[in-house]
Amino acid sequence: MEVTVSFNLNGKKVSVTAPPAKSLLRVLREDLGITSVKPGCEAGECGACSVLLDGQVVTSCLVMISQVEGKNVLTVEGLQKDGELDPLQKAFIEEGATQCGYCTPGFIIAAKGLLNENPNPTDEEILEGVSGNICRCGAYPRIFNAIKKVVKKNGV
Ligand code: FES
Ligand code: FES
Repeated sequence: MEVTVSFNLNGKKVSVTAPPAKSLLRVLREDLGITSVKPGCEAGECGACSVLLDGQVVTSCLVMISQVEGKNVLTVEGLQKDGELDPLQKAFIEEGATQCGYCTPGFIIAAKGLLNENPNPTDEEILEGVSGNICRCGAYPRIFNAIKKVVKKNGV
């Protein structure tokens, strides 16, 4: 059995027909060409597949497509505005916060969700905000510096 689900993806309405239990991660990658969401553990442990679902950070590997009807999904592909990178994307580049880059979209989405709710987090809150994300390359200090750079620009 398949279901047709309509939702808002990066500001555009999309419809997709898929088995109801297919993960949002797999639908995004395999049916909608959104490759920033990465399959890592596919068990909710690594954060590589993070997206914003109605503004909340979720691991898309644990969300069934049938749960997404009518919702808003934001991925890194939707962060640019008028061809301009999001400040977080710029800061990650400037701070060299990527090595292989596999974890990067997930970290950026986690940081985006954090800063949407709290534009001026403390260092502890930043660490807590990305605590669900794993970087196998160990780029944590530079990832932290990139997020901190945006926080400073927000004006603490
Ligand atoms: S792939 Fe979803 S949390 Fe690891
Ligand atoms: S930069 Fe390689 S996993 Fe984080």
